[in-house]
Amino acid sequence: MVKPFCEYLRVKLQEYINKVSNRLLEHDLFYGHGTDNAIDEAAYLVYISLGFDLSKDIDDGRELSDIEISEIDRQVSERIEERKPVAYVLGKSWFAGRLFNSDKRALIPRSPIAELIRNRFEPLLADTPGRILDLCTGGGCIGIAAALEFANSNVDLADISIEALALADSNIALHNLSVRVRSIRSDTFESLEGKYDLIVSNPPYVSRQEHDQLPREYAHEPKMGLISDDNGLALPLRILREAADFLNDDGVLILEVGYSHELLAQRLKNVPLLWLEFEYGGEGVLALTAAQLQQYRASFK
Ligand SMILES: C[S@@+](CC[C@H](N)C(=O)[O-])C[C@H]1O[C@@H](n2cnc3c(N)ncnc32)[C@H](O)[C@@H]1O
Repeated sequence: MVKPFCEYLRVKLQEYINKVSNRLLEHDLFYGHGTDNAIDEAAYLVYISLGFDLSKDIDDGRELSDIEISEIDRQVSERIEERKPVAYVLGKSWFAGRLFNSDKRALIPRSPIAELIRNRFEPLLADTPGRILDLCTGGGCIGIAAALEFANSNVDLADISIEALALADSNIALHNLSVRVRSIRSDTFESLEGKYDLIVSNPPYVSRQEHDQLPREYAHEPKMGLISDDNGLALPLRILREAADFLNDDGVLILEVGYSHELLAQRLKNVPLLWLEFEYGGEGVLALTAAQLQQYRASFK
């Protein structure tokens, strides 16, 4: 007998999210790829799986069909059994209020720089940036979110990984930005030309030893996106050394070094690093002007 259609509409959204959260809590999972607890992760998984726009109000009383439930139950099993981060299970991630394609070709977007973008980097920029560089772009989330915030800016997305850039290209297409945003394969600044008003970078900054101790979830992400030599500082220091040559006179570098910030601050005691503060959490993001990068270049060894 065919099931009456109304029987498919049974479980309310909030009730189902609680069930998913309880399932997640039964396992020793690590949260840190966009959320930091089971209930937020459950809501994130369910909302994105159902195609909700997270920037809009969501009706928690909406009911789910059996088909929706069985698909999400399968995704929850994949999250649990393979310790796969939700963004890779869904093939989507949410960053700075925007949806991105996300898969193992690039790290899952989670940088606190999202908050700076949404605040248009105020008060760090003298003017609206004409040219922006997202160095170590991965799937392109930072540069693309910045391009959407600054509607007249041209944005370059640079990365050494061809795979990551292919994902970035799919995100340029997703947001219809091919006129103003391009991807460039480059080992830091090597293949880049001209000067930028704003350089934003979230490079790899995890040491090899730390990487080996990370929870299983991180093993799904490309090592090239995480590991940096010299206790995690090799790439950040290289960017600090080279950035001045690619910034206009009133340009600014925003650089994320995450929990390596204490080590970097110790090494660069003489440099007035401006550590930015975040309302919604996160740390280890610094700002330096083009003039400061010039002045202290010799320190970035
Ligand atoms: C931490 S991920 C950041 C991805 C993205 N920007 C984000 O915030 O989610 C670092 C990225 O740096 C890239 N990368 C590593 N070494 C590089 C180098 N020498 N030059 C350019 N990009 C590099 C990796 O391929 C990876 O995509």
